[in-house]
Amino acid sequence: MKIALIGGTGDIGRGFAVRWGQKHEIIIGSRNSDKAGESAAAVMQLLGHVGNITGTDNASAIAKADVVVLCVPYGNLSHVTSGLQEAYKNQLVISPVVPMTYNGKFFQYHPPMEGSAALQVRSLLPQGVKVVSAFHTICAAALQDINRVMKADVFICGDDAPAIEIAAQLAGEIKSLRPLNAGPLAVSSMVESLTPFLLNVARKNKIKDAGIAVVSER
Ligand SMILES: NC(=O)c1ccc[n+]([C@@H]2O[C@H](COP(=O)([O-])OP(=O)(O)OC[C@H]3O[C@@H](n4cnc5c(N)ncnc54)[C@H](OP(=O)(O)O)[C@@H]3O)[C@@H](O)[C@H]2O)c1
Repeated sequence: MKIALIGGTGDIGRGFAVRWGQKHEIIIGSRNSDKAGESAAAVMQLLGHVGNITGTDNASAIAKADVVVLCVPYGNLSHVTSGLQEAYKNQLVISPVVPMTYNGKFFQYHPPMEGSAALQVRSLLPQGVKVVSAFHTICAAALQDINRVMKADVFICGDDAPAIEIAAQLAGEIKSLRPLNAGPLAVSSMVESLTPFLLNVARKNKIKDAGIAVVSER
């Protein structure tokens, strides 16, 4: 697949590039194409120059891709998404974006009026674009460490079965994340809100690089 990472120069974008770069064509997007090129070169070096990772501006990255992952902070999501609308055709868009704030004591979920970041993205993109939400509770630092075997689950929300399947395949390629279907895109607020919950638990209990996994008691 050709995967564009919008704002892929940041923490989670680098993690996806590291994990998917040897199997897929990765296009790191940025507001600054030189910065994207430097990020791509750094990941290629980390992977021993095995892979296909390039960098360009965000709009060009979207235009070239089958799958677009929105790797920007929530505060920039709306203008990045609506500002690049014309670059989209029929890509699959994955949103790991969590609208949350920190009040000095704890993290809180702060969804937009659409109900969740994913529903906001849905409302801003052309209808032909499929939107899936996933990876909200995956730690970027752990993702960036290619040798780290992760034990977490990836909760995936979406309204299109083939799109969910592609997101699940991409999650399953990261050893050893387990993709779980969490329901329609309307449920994304519940999944997004797990991130501030997880960060609060991690801070209070000094758990590094925390993740979430569902256990079966049977
Ligand atoms: N970090 C995690 O562990 C983690 C885990 C799960 C989900 N997420 C979600 O993933 C998203 C990205 O998180 P992150 O930690 O990777 O973010 P980040 O490193 O703080 O930023 C990612 C990129 O966003 C771009 N950006 C910053 N300000 C911008 C602006 N005003 N307009 C357009 N682009 C801007 C920058 O790219 P350029 O300067 O190159 O344009 C930056 O490198 C967030 O929505 C977060 O909720 C993060």
